[in-house]
Amino acid sequence: MEELYYPNRTEAKNARVKNICEYNELVARATEDFEGYWDQLAKEKISWFKPYNQVLDESNAPFYKWFVGGKLNASYQCIDRHLDSRKNKAAIIFEGELGDKQIITYRELYHRVNKTANLLKNRFGVKKGDRVVIYMPMIPEAAISMLACARIGAIHSVVFGGFSAEALRDRIVDAEAKVVMTADGAYRRGKPYLLKPLVDEALSQKCETVKSVIIVERNKSDIKWVAGRDFAYAELVENESPFCEPEEMDSEDPLFLLYTSGSTGKPKGVQHSTAGYMLHAHTTMENVFDVRENDTYWSTADVGWITGHTYIVYGPLSMGATTIMFEGVPVYPDAGRWWKMIEEYQVNQFYTAPTAIRLLHKTGANEPKKYNLSSLRVLGTVGEPINPEAWLWYYNEIGGGKCPIVDTWWQTETGGHMITPLPFATPIKPASATLPLPGIFAEIIDENGNKMPVGEKGLLCITKPWPSMIRTIWGDPERYKKSYFGDAKKDGKPVYFSGDGAMYDERGYITITGRVDDVINVSGHRLGTAEIESAIAKHLHVAEVAVVGRPDEIKGESVFAYIVLKNEDSFGEDVELLKEVNKIINSEIGALAKCDSIIIVSALPKTRSGKIMRRLLRAIAKGENITQDISTLEDPAVVQRIVDKFNK
Ligand code: WT7
Repeated sequence: MEELYYPNRTEAKNARVKNICEYNELVARATEDFEGYWDQLAKEKISWFKPYNQVLDESNAPFYKWFVGGKLNASYQCIDRHLDSRKNKAAIIFEGELGDKQIITYRELYHRVNKTANLLKNRFGVKKGDRVVIYMPMIPEAAISMLACARIGAIHSVVFGGFSAEALRDRIVDAEAKVVMTADGAYRRGKPYLLKPLVDEALSQKCETVKSVIIVERNKSDIKWVAGRDFAYAELVENESPFCEPEEMDSEDPLFLLYTSGSTGKPKGVQHSTAGYMLHAHTTMENVFDVRENDTYWSTADVGWITGHTYIVYGPLSMGATTIMFEGVPVYPDAGRWWKMIEEYQVNQFYTAPTAIRLLHKTGANEPKKYNLSSLRVLGTVGEPINPEAWLWYYNEIGGGKCPIVDTWWQTETGGHMITPLPFATPIKPASATLPLPGIFAEIIDENGNKMPVGEKGLLCITKPWPSMIRTIWGDPERYKKSYFGDAKKDGKPVYFSGDGAMYDERGYITITGRVDDVINVSGHRLGTAEIESAIAKHLHVAEVAVVGRPDEIKGESVFAYIVLKNEDSFGEDVELLKEVNKIINSEIGALAKCDSIIIVSALPKTRSGKIMRRLLRAIAKGENITQDISTLEDPAVVQRIVDKFNK
C-alpha cells in the first residue's frame, strides 16, 4: 500500500474534526440517524426567521425538499448576523490585477449590499423570483450583486466572464432574465479588456426580457451606452438607502442558477435551493478548510463557477470568515504573484485548481522560495484530477511539507464538497479525494448497481439525497431526472449519477479517474463536446465533426477535433482550418473552449446504425492501441486511415 501523509498532531488538537475516530463517529451518526444528523446541523448553523417543520420530504423523489417550511435569507445569514460580533472584521479583501486593494468590512458589506438591493428593487423593479444575470470580472461588485439578489429574493445567474456573447445570450434567454449586471471591462495580464460590448451583442437579438443593464465602471473604458437601457452603477447606487429588509425566503426557494455543460444539448441551468445549499456551504467551509476566527482564506476560483459561489462568497461569509477576491491571473507580472499575496495577507487556507499548480510548477518552480509561506495551514485543490507530481510539489514547496491538502471532489450540481479529506483527521494520499464527508453517501458501482471491487473503475454515485443537491434543471424537470437519475435504486431510492469514473483502493479511499460521459475538463473548466461540435459544424466547409478530450500536461485535457470536410480539397492544411474553427468557437462559446488541434479525416468511424464510435476516437487521440472490436463498424477500414493520418 502507498504511504500516507499524516496531519500534524499539535495542529490537530485545535481542529474541528481532530482525528479519524471523530470522523468515523460522525459517519456512524449520520448513518444511524440520517435526518437527525442534518437536523442538528441545520438548527445550529442557520439563522432561521421561522423554523422548519420537516427535515426531508422524499415523497416526490428525486425532487427532494429539505427543511420544509423554514424561512431564512442567505444575505442575512452571510452578513447581518455577524454585525454584533464582527462588524469591523474584513469580510472581503480584494486585490486587483494592477495591485489596487480594498478591504471591505462586514459593516461596509452590509451597506453596499443593501444599497445594491434597493437599487435593484426600487429603481429596476426586480422582485422576488425574478432572474438577474451577473456577467462580471472578479471584482467586489460581483459578490455584492449576488448578495443583493439574495437579499430581495431575486435568483442570480452568474455567467463566467470568459463566455462569448452567444453563450451569454443563451443563458439570458433560457433564464428569461430581467436585468443584466456587468462591467465595462477589467484587467487581465496587466491590460484592460472589455466585457460590455459582449453584453451589447448578446442583447441585440432574442433578449426581450432584459429591460436594464447596470454597469460597474471598472476600467473606465470607452463603451457604448444605450439610452434608457444602460445605467452606471456607481452613480445610482449612492442615492439608495443603506438599509434593506431581507426578504423572507422559503428553504426551497431557488437561491441561484448556474449553467453547466452536460454530455448533450445546451447548457443546463442548475438550480440551487436557499437553506440546503447554505447549510452545506457553511459546514464544509468549517470542516474541510478548518477556518478559524482570525484566519484569512483564499480561493483563486472565479465567481463565474460554482467554486466561486460556494467557497468565495456564500461559504466563507456564512461563517463570518475573511475571504480574498483576486482579479488577476497567476502569472502576472510573474509566476510569483500568488505566493507574494500569500505572504502579504498571511493567508491560512489556500484553494486552487490542479491546472494552476501545474502551470506555476512548470513556469516558476523557484518562485515559492522567494516568499514566506509559513502562514499556510491548509491547502486545497478542486475541479479536476491532480497528478501525484503536481500534488507533491504543492505539498512540499507551497505547504512546506506541513499542510494537509484537501483534494475536494464535487460538482456544480452537488453545491458543495462531497468527497474530501478533513485536513486534520484524514491521512492523505497524493491524488486521492479519500473519503465521503459525514452525511454524504457515495458509492462506486458498475452498470448493474453492484459495488466495485478494489482497484477497478466504476461509476461514482450518491445513494442518498443531500441538502445542497441540485433541485432541478431550470425549466426542464424531465431533463433533471434523465440526466442524473437512471433506473438504479438503492433502498428504494433513486441513485444520483455523477458522470465521473472512480476507483477504491485497499483502504476504501476513492480516486476520481475522470468523466465517463462526453464532458471534458480543460483547465478545470467543464465543457460539453456536443456544444463544441455544434460550433465547429457551423463552419461552411465542415460536413461532420467529433470532439474528444486529449491528455494535456498542464490543462489536464485539451480539445481535439476530428473533422470531415464537405469537399476534401477545400483545405490543404489543417492549421488553416484550425484557425477558422477557433474563431467560431471563440464567438459561439468563448476562448476557454479553444481547440488545440484538429485532424482532417475522410470519414468518422460509425456503427451500421450511424452512431459515431466515440470511444474509439478517444483512444486514438490518446495514442492508445485499438483493442476494441471494430467489426461492427459500417466501414472498419476508416479506423486504420485515421490512425495512419494521426501518426503522420
Ligand atoms: C467535475 C465537476 C467542483 C467545482 C469545480 C468544478 C471534476 C471536480 C475534482 C477532484 C477529480 C474533480 C469532476 C466533476 N472534478 N473536483 N477533486 N478530482 N475531478 O465543477 O464544473 O461542475 O465540474 O469536475 O469530473 O464531475 P464542475
